[in-house]
Formats: sequence, C-alpha cells, structure tokens
Amino acid sequence: MGETAREKYNRAARLYDLYEMPVEALLFSKLRKGALASVSGRTLEVGVGTGKNLQYYPENTNLTAIDFSSSMLRKAKKRAKLLEMENVTMLEQDIQSLTFPENHYDYITASCVFCTVPDPILGLQNLLRVLKPGGKAIFIEHMKTDNPLINAFLYAMNIMSTRMLGTSMIRETDKNIRNAGFSVLSVKGYLFNVVKVIVATKDSE
Ligand SMILES: C[S@@+](CC[C@H](N)C(=O)[O-])C[C@H]1O[C@@H](n2cnc3c(N)ncnc32)[C@H](O)[C@@H]1O
Repeated sequence: MGETAREKYNRAARLYDLYEMPVEALLFSKLRKGALASVSGRTLEVGVGTGKNLQYYPENTNLTAIDFSSSMLRKAKKRAKLLEMENVTMLEQDIQSLTFPENHYDYITASCVFCTVPDPILGLQNLLRVLKPGGKAIFIEHMKTDNPLINAFLYAMNIMSTRMLGTSMIRETDKNIRNAGFSVLSVKGYLFNVVKVIVATKDSE
C-alpha cells in the first residue's frame, strides 16, 4: 500500500511552513485575519496543521484544535506556546471519526483541509454534527473552478500535490459543503475563484 495522507504530512511537517511562505505572504495571512476576526466562544479548528490560524483568533475564543498528523500538531503546540495562548487544547484526531458531542461548538474553522481529508463528505457531516444549530463554520479552501483554463492548470498541479501530500487541487469543496448538509451563508472567491472563503451554518431542525 502507498503512503497515506497522514504519513505524507508527518514527513512534510519539518519544511511545510517554508514552502508555503510565498502563498501565505501574498494571500492566506490576509484571508485568515479577515475570516477569523468574528470567531468567539467554543470553537473547533480541524486540520490545524502547524497552527497558522492561531494568531488570528480573538481573545474570547475557547479553542480546541485537532489534526491527524502528530508532526504537524507538534508544530502547532509550539506555536501556541510562543503565542502564550491559554484557551487552547490540541488533540491528535481524524476528522472522519470525531469524538466530540453533538451540537457542541459555536464556531468550526478549517483552512486548506478538505482538499486532503480522504472522505470529505463524511468529514463535513461530522463537523455538521458537532456544530450547534445556528453556529458558524468558516472554510478557507482551494478548489476546482468553473474556468476550464484554470482547471487545466489545477489538473497539472494535482499530479504533484497528490503525490507529495495526498492533497487534491480539483475537489469541489463548495459543492461538498452543501452536499454534507450545511446551509451556505456567504462565499467570497480569490485567485480566479481557486480559493474561497465560505461561511456556512447548521439550520435548526
Ligand atoms: C494543507 S494543511 C493546512 C494546515 C492549516 N489548516 C493551514 O491553514 O495552514 C492540511 C492539514 O490537514 C490535516 N488533515 C488532513 N486530513 C485530515 C483528517 N482526516 N483529520 C485530521 N487532520 C487532517 C493534515 O494533517 C494537515 O495538517
């Protein structure tokens, strides 16, 4: 059997921040800052990676962060310590088998995660289960677009990204979020709509 996505991220953790640096400086730091400014209360971040979102959470956030890669999580823990964050708990856990109670979180956040979760619909359904009705899920994700030229470029990149990180460039994450049962409140597109900030909620039954 080939290397799993978790094993790929364990291997990549050491240099991850370095090779993500250009795209972080040009785009993602701004998106994180804007998207996370309204977060408050009991919050779950899934696929925390090396913890790049941590510095953008408002102080009144009570954060639990998970990742299935122990090496990425170790980096996030170091970053939380450097930032002297007190209200944060970090756990090694797979989004596909979340153990948190139903209707538990005010906010859920994920950035560049659902390109990798092996079964994205199952993962998204798990997020929906643990989100409170009326709570918000904030996604900063890259995905396939409606533009065939851009998609051709993404297909080319996909050959490398799947091999290196188990990450797909051509997932339809916007559709997956809806198909998992979320109600989408807003969508903002960046970089020719390759990157989208999607805010979604769970309707009350
Ligand atoms: C591209 S990195 C993004 C990290 C971080 N969210 C960021 O914005 O920099 C994807 C992260 O999601 C984690 N991940 C992917 N699938 C996962 C799963 N099924 N359960 C938990 N974590 C997962 C990976 O280990 C990795 O740390």
